[in-house]
Amino acid sequence: MRETLNQPLPPTTTLSPTDSPFVSRHGGFACEGVSLRDIAAAVDTPVYVYSRADLTTRAAAFVAAANETGGDRALVCYAVKANGNPALLEVLAAAGLGADVTSGGELFLALHAGFDPQRIIFSGVGKKAAEIGEALQAGIRALHVESEMELAAVATVAERLGTVAPVGVRVNPNISAATHPYISTGLHGHKFGVPCERAVAMLRSAAAHPWLRPVGIAAHIGSQITDLDPFAQAVRFLVELADEMGREGIPLEYIDAGGGLGIDYQGPAPAAAEWVRTVGPLVAAAGYGLVVEPGRSIVGRAGALLTRVIYTKAQGDKQFVIADAGMTDLIRPTLYQAHHPIAPVVERPGEAIVVDLVGPICESSDFLARERPLPPVEPGDLLAVLHAGAYGYAMSSNYNGHLRPAEVLVEGDAFRVIRRRQTYDDLLTGT
Ligand code: LLP
Repeated sequence: MRETLNQPLPPTTTLSPTDSPFVSRHGGFACEGVSLRDIAAAVDTPVYVYSRADLTTRAAAFVAAANETGGDRALVCYAVKANGNPALLEVLAAAGLGADVTSGGELFLALHAGFDPQRIIFSGVGKKAAEIGEALQAGIRALHVESEMELAAVATVAERLGTVAPVGVRVNPNISAATHPYISTGLHGHKFGVPCERAVAMLRSAAAHPWLRPVGIAAHIGSQITDLDPFAQAVRFLVELADEMGREGIPLEYIDAGGGLGIDYQGPAPAAAEWVRTVGPLVAAAGYGLVVEPGRSIVGRAGALLTRVIYTKAQGDKQFVIADAGMTDLIRPTLYQAHHPIAPVVERPGEAIVVDLVGPICESSDFLARERPLPPVEPGDLLAVLHAGAYGYAMSSNYNGHLRPAEVLVEGDAFRVIRRRQTYDDLLTGT
């Protein structure tokens, strides 16, 4: 049956982006020059597939826009939490990015991938003493602290190691950004950063401390934000604060506008260059170095989750499509009601049917899409869940004894496995 479908296909309606590396071709969907069917045949499903060309194009766009607005003081720190696959990190380090890490584990991955320590920033509300020590020993650009207690912990470790710690303070600007509440971070009710007055006090005490050196301030107001205004507001707020510190004789080197630029899962999203041109000139005009920490906007569109339909089932007033990937592979739909474009790898003719695309996990919240019109599918068909490069594999789990999927990197007409699928033995060893 499938072979008869192996012919030029009309563009699918479920795919919005025109410049995606995932394209409908003769014989079905491909990533760059490689058919997704070939990948599934060689590696099995579920599997994450990434395009190297997409990664390098997006990294280059960020670097170019940052250099254009911020000159050679601009720093684009890729947020490793979005996707920490070692092979992808190597590609991004080689493309000239720095890294924003949030744990000792991410610091280890970033150093291993070859990111220059002077281009690494360590963010996060709960750094432990051992992690602080690792960062100081690696000689990273700065640790961004988020509380008075954390600042004291950095000072203690720095003194013990006999090294002056470069610190930034993450400020909570109390700015609301229109996004899902779980990924909104810039309001005082959130655990992140400290309000302005406390940031000032922390910067003063860092400046007065022999083992601390204040170097910058940062804000990160949330993720998947497609309106540029809140970013501009946050940066204006940071510039004012940095200027105030400068007048006190505490000159800061850089302003970190955070990450958070959204991508076009469903509606349009600004390009990297638009975002950087919104925040960059405000920072540069005030005489500071620009730092940005994009994650999703670098890797999000470069990846797709390839899954195979196992069964279909009609129940109540629902049509269920049961696939071999679910919330353990991609938790974003479950956790944030996120919408990912989904396309059959080889589209069957016929009317679209409204379905719930679900996984094999024992939770009613285990779905990849709900009430979604999809072309007809049958067991054995492959589906590509698109825009899944960010916070996909990174948030996967072994719940229900489900093995973590493989990951594949496509490079032109070739592909290679960059993380093997887990095996049952891995469930015993905890890897
Ligand atoms: N910098 C900091 C301090 C962050 O906390 C984050 C993300 C970023 C940068 C990168 O943000 P991005 O450019 O990727 O939006 N799991 C959620 C997203 C959580 C984001 C957490 N922090 C999701 O799947 O939507």
